[in-house]
Amino acid sequence: MKEFTPTKKRYLEVRKLTEDLCKPLNEEDLTIQPIEDVSPPKWHLAHTTWFFETFILIPHYHNYKVFNENFNYIFNSYYENKGKRILKANRGNMSRPSAQEVFDYRKYIDAKIIEVIEKDYFDIPKIGFFLELGLNHEQQHQELLVTDIKYILGNNPLLPAYNKPFEMNEYSQDDTYTSFKEGIYEVGHGSENFFFDNERPRHKTYLHSYKIMNRLVTNSEYLEFIKDGSYSNFNLWLSDGWAWLNNIKISKPLYWHEIDGEWHYYTLSGLRRIDPNAPVTHISFYEAEAFARWAGKRLPTEQEWEVAASELANCQNANLLNLDKLQPVNKSNKNNQFIGDVWEWTNSSYLPYPNYKKDDGALGEYNGKFMINQMVLRGGSCATPVDHVRITYRNFFQTDKRWQFTGIRLAENG
Ligand SMILES: [Fe+2]
Repeated sequence: MKEFTPTKKRYLEVRKLTEDLCKPLNEEDLTIQPIEDVSPPKWHLAHTTWFFETFILIPHYHNYKVFNENFNYIFNSYYENKGKRILKANRGNMSRPSAQEVFDYRKYIDAKIIEVIEKDYFDIPKIGFFLELGLNHEQQHQELLVTDIKYILGNNPLLPAYNKPFEMNEYSQDDTYTSFKEGIYEVGHGSENFFFDNERPRHKTYLHSYKIMNRLVTNSEYLEFIKDGSYSNFNLWLSDGWAWLNNIKISKPLYWHEIDGEWHYYTLSGLRRIDPNAPVTHISFYEAEAFARWAGKRLPTEQEWEVAASELANCQNANLLNLDKLQPVNKSNKNNQFIGDVWEWTNSSYLPYPNYKKDDGALGEYNGKFMINQMVLRGGSCATPVDHVRITYRNFFQTDKRWQFTGIRLAENG
């Protein structure tokens, strides 16, 4: 395996972006947890720091003094190997420690990690990998910060804006598909660059011939689905999806508001009219799957998506995390949106690849233990840090989740 040696510059850049994302927030915004899925921004700031302290400083830094003995209990997320922790639903109950104490914690850990980077700790086996993992972990939390901040502000009755409005593009939409022949293809991560263990091993897969859409499904197309009465047509829905729909009684994507007969949505730059040509987002797997059935198509499998993206994705001009935007936008003629804008629901369960081996200990808890009851999403979103996503990247969420930037690309047989 390649030896990773992250630089001080890269470490500081990643850490700074996390703090920059929190700059428009006040202390109350930093502390609340409106639903269990949405963690307080203050918790993300501390938990990402705890990760470096727990996996690098405590085991390897000579005579390391823990910043605060209580922090393992309140900032451990889900690592059974690292001891007892608070319930996830209680993360918003912490008015203490204050935001200032959390920023002090970040400073304390940063100083120690910079020493690790500058003083030849790279001799320790795997320490470079753990540093790189810590940075990639922090980038994952940067995306969660964006979507959690959106949920916090988008459920505030005043719908406050987080950033400034941005211009909408005026591109026309075409509806073309690219065909792929049946045959044996290879998928999975194969290079020496950083990867998460769930992307390996690279392996062969057999695909029947299929076609995949050259863009994402738009708001105007999704509006047609709504207007056609699809949220009350049980024929379109999986049984689980129909039960979910009737339980929470929804009839539109998260953040959509109908005001005086006009559809609006909450964006991080405030409430605005829906852009008809922008990709639909904030929908569950159930909604994506029902939409595909309504359209006479289906969702691609993750293997179909990866084979198509390997050939077609244009990563330049991808709409990834940009503090001035943070919203999916309609496509330019040169961008088929495989990378960026929205995570694309696939019709693939999140399962181990052939010959996948879960690591022993805490590292094995990072991905492997979640390979149950979730679906794979591909391609990154407008909240994914620019150097974080790749074609082999496997994101995963439960079928009812809507607070991530999730959307739809259609496929069909033959
Ligand atoms: Fe985490």
